[in-house]
Amino acid sequence: MSAFKHLFQSISIGSLKVKNRLLMSAMSINFGVDDQGWVDDQLIEYFRVRARGGVGMMLVGGGGVHPSGVELPHLPALWDDACIPSLTRMVNAVRPYETRFGVQLMHGGRQSYHDQKVAPSAIPAPAVVNGVPKALTLMEIDEIVAAFGDAARRCLEAGFDFIEIHGAHGYLINQFLSPNSNIREDAYGGPFDNRIRFLRDIMRDIRTKTGTDFPVGIRINGDDYIDGGWTLADAKRLAPILEAEGAAYLHVSAGVYGSRQLTIPSMYVPQGCFVHLAEAVKPLVSVPVITAGRIKLPEMAERIIRGGQADMVAMGRSLLADPNWPHKARTGITDTIRPCIGCCLACIHAVLALEPGSCVVNPEVGREYLLGDPVPAPASKKVMVIGAGPAGLAAARMAALRGHQVLVLDEKRHAGGLARLAALPPGRGEIMDLVNFLEREVARLGVEIRLNTPVDARIITVEMPDVAILASGSMPEVPLYKGLFQSRMNVVTMLEVLEENAAVGGKAIVMGGNQAGLVVADHLAEQGCDVVVLHRKAHFAEEMSSNDRFYLRERLTAHPVTLFKKVSIKRFFPHGVSFLSNGRPLEIDGFDTVVVSDAMTSIKKPLELFKDRAVDVHVIGDAKSPRTIQFAVGEAEEIGRQI
Ligand SMILES: Cc1cc2nc3c(=O)[nH]c(=O)nc-3n(C[C@H](O)[C@H](O)[C@H](O)COP(=O)(O)O)c2cc1C
Ligand code: SF4
Repeated sequence: MSAFKHLFQSISIGSLKVKNRLLMSAMSINFGVDDQGWVDDQLIEYFRVRARGGVGMMLVGGGGVHPSGVELPHLPALWDDACIPSLTRMVNAVRPYETRFGVQLMHGGRQSYHDQKVAPSAIPAPAVVNGVPKALTLMEIDEIVAAFGDAARRCLEAGFDFIEIHGAHGYLINQFLSPNSNIREDAYGGPFDNRIRFLRDIMRDIRTKTGTDFPVGIRINGDDYIDGGWTLADAKRLAPILEAEGAAYLHVSAGVYGSRQLTIPSMYVPQGCFVHLAEAVKPLVSVPVITAGRIKLPEMAERIIRGGQADMVAMGRSLLADPNWPHKARTGITDTIRPCIGCCLACIHAVLALEPGSCVVNPEVGREYLLGDPVPAPASKKVMVIGAGPAGLAAARMAALRGHQVLVLDEKRHAGGLARLAALPPGRGEIMDLVNFLEREVARLGVEIRLNTPVDARIITVEMPDVAILASGSMPEVPLYKGLFQSRMNVVTMLEVLEENAAVGGKAIVMGGNQAGLVVADHLAEQGCDVVVLHRKAHFAEEMSSNDRFYLRERLTAHPVTLFKKVSIKRFFPHGVSFLSNGRPLEIDGFDTVVVSDAMTSIKKPLELFKDRAVDVHVIGDAKSPRTIQFAVGEAEEIGRQI
C-alpha cells in the first residue's frame, strides 16, 4: 500500500469516480493550439504524458468561451462547434490512462490580452495588462452567459468527463463577484446577491445545455488579496449557494492581477499558502473542496487530505516539473520526483509575455511530442563532464539515462556550482531542491562524481573520454571603476560574500542590481547591514520572473535597501562614491564595503586541455555564456539526448 494512503484514495465528483485525490489544475500554457483555436499534437502529447503519470483529474487551462475573453493567443477556442473534433482527439489520447479529463471555461474580461476588453464596469485591471475595458450591456451579458453554456455543451460532446467554471483570479466572473471591479447599478452590481447573479446565470445555462449528470466544478477565490476585493467571508457565503446550484466541487484559490498575494506565488511564499482558505470553506458544503497553491511535497498533500483540510489537492507547476509525480508518490519513490523550485520563470512569466510556457527544471514541457522519452544511445560512450553545477549534473543525468558511462569532475568541495550559492540568501533555499534532485539522480544512475578534482591533462589521458561536456560555469568580473581600488573600502565579489562569508561591515554598496545583486543585498540587509544598490540599467533583476521579483522587491522595501538605477559611476573615494542616477548627480559616503555583482564571465580555460585530442567537446550553460539556470538545464538535456 502507498505511504500516502489518503492521497491515493478514490473519490466521487458527482457521478464521476476519480482514482486519487490529485487534480492537475488548469494552466493556460499558451502552446499547442493553432490560429483557429484548435488543439494540436503539441497539447495532446503534453496531456497524454501527464495522464500517464497517474494524476486523478486533469484540466485543460483557459478554454475561451467567447472571442471577447481570450486571455492568451494560444488557448482552446470553445465558441464554435468546429473545435470539437480536435478536442475529441485529445480526449481519446488520454482515455487509456483513466485520468478524468476536463476543461476550464473562462472569460478573461478586463484581464484579456487583446485591446477589445470587456468587464462589468469600465475599470482597468490593476496590473499586467493595459487598457480600460468596455462595461458590458445587459444584452452582452446574456450573450456571454449563453456562450458559457454552449462551450460546456461542446466539451460534453467532445467527450470530456467534467468542466470547471473559472470564477477566480480576477477574470470576468471574479470581476462580477468582486466589489472592487463591479460598480454596476443594475441587477448585476451592488449587493452580494446581484454580484453573484452572473455566475448563477452561467451555472443555470450550463445545466440546461448539459443536463445534471455532467459534473461542473467551480473555481473561486478564497480571497482576492486586494483592497476592496472579494474576501474569505464572501467565499464562505457563496459556497453553499454554489452547492445548491449544483456545483460538483469547489476549488478554492486566491489572488487577482495586482494583488498583494499572487495567484502563482514564487519560492518566497510558504508552501501550501492557500490551504487555510479551502479549509475555511470545507465545513460549509458537502461537495468536495479542492485546495491549490505551492503544494509540491507528497507529505504535505497527504497531510492536507488526512487532516480534512481539503478533499483534493490541485497541483499546477509540480506537474509541469514532473508529470510522473503521482506515480512516484504512489509507489514510494519520492526521491526521484523532479521538484518545481518556484521560480515562475519559464511557466507563468513566459506565458504572460505571450510566449509558450515551459519549465526551468523540465525543458521537455511543450516538446513531449518532438522528444518522446529518452532512448538508449546506439553505443555507450565514455563521457567526461567538467563541472557539477546544474548544467553538468543535468547533462550527466541525461547521458547516464541513455546508457553512457559518465564521470563528473569538479574542483569544488560540493556539487551544485553557483546554484548552491544562489540558494543561500533569504527565501532562495528551494533552488537547492534541484541540485539535491540531480545529485540523487546521478548517484542512482551510477555516475561517478569526483569533487576537489580540477580537470587536467593527466586525467584526460587516463580516462580517455569519447565526449567531454564543459559545464565549468562562470565567475564575477570586477570592472575597473575609477578610484575603486584606491578607496579604503573592502572590495569583494558577491561570491565571496555568499561562499566565504566575507566580512562586509555595517554599510555596503552593492554594484549591480541584477538578480544576484538584489538577493545579495537582501542577504546583507537581513544581517543588519545598511545597503545601497547601484544598477547601470533601467530595470532591476530583469532575468527574474516578475512573480519572483515581486516578493524580492517587497523584502527590499521592508528592510529598507536603497536602490538607484540608470547609474553611471563618476569615481570612488575612500568611503563612498559619486555617480549619476537618471542623470542626477549624487554622492554617498560612510561605507565599509563594495560588493561587486555586476557581470559574470564564462570559465572556458579547460577547453585548452582538449586541443589536439580526439574528443568530441561540447560547451554548455554559463561556460558557454552566463545566463539563467533555464539555459543551463535546457542545454544540458539537449546535449545529453544528442550524444
Ligand atoms: C503557466 C500557468 C498558467 C496558469 N493558468 C491558469 C488558468 O488558466 N486557470 C487557472 O485557474 N489557473 C491558472 N494557473 C494557476 C494554477 O492553476 C495554480 O492555481 C497555481 O499555479 C498555483 O498552484 P501551483 O503552486 O501548484 O502551481 C496557471 C498557472 C501557471 C503556472
Ligand atoms: S518554471 Fe520554475 S516555477 Fe515554473 S514549473 Fe518550472 S520550476 Fe516551477
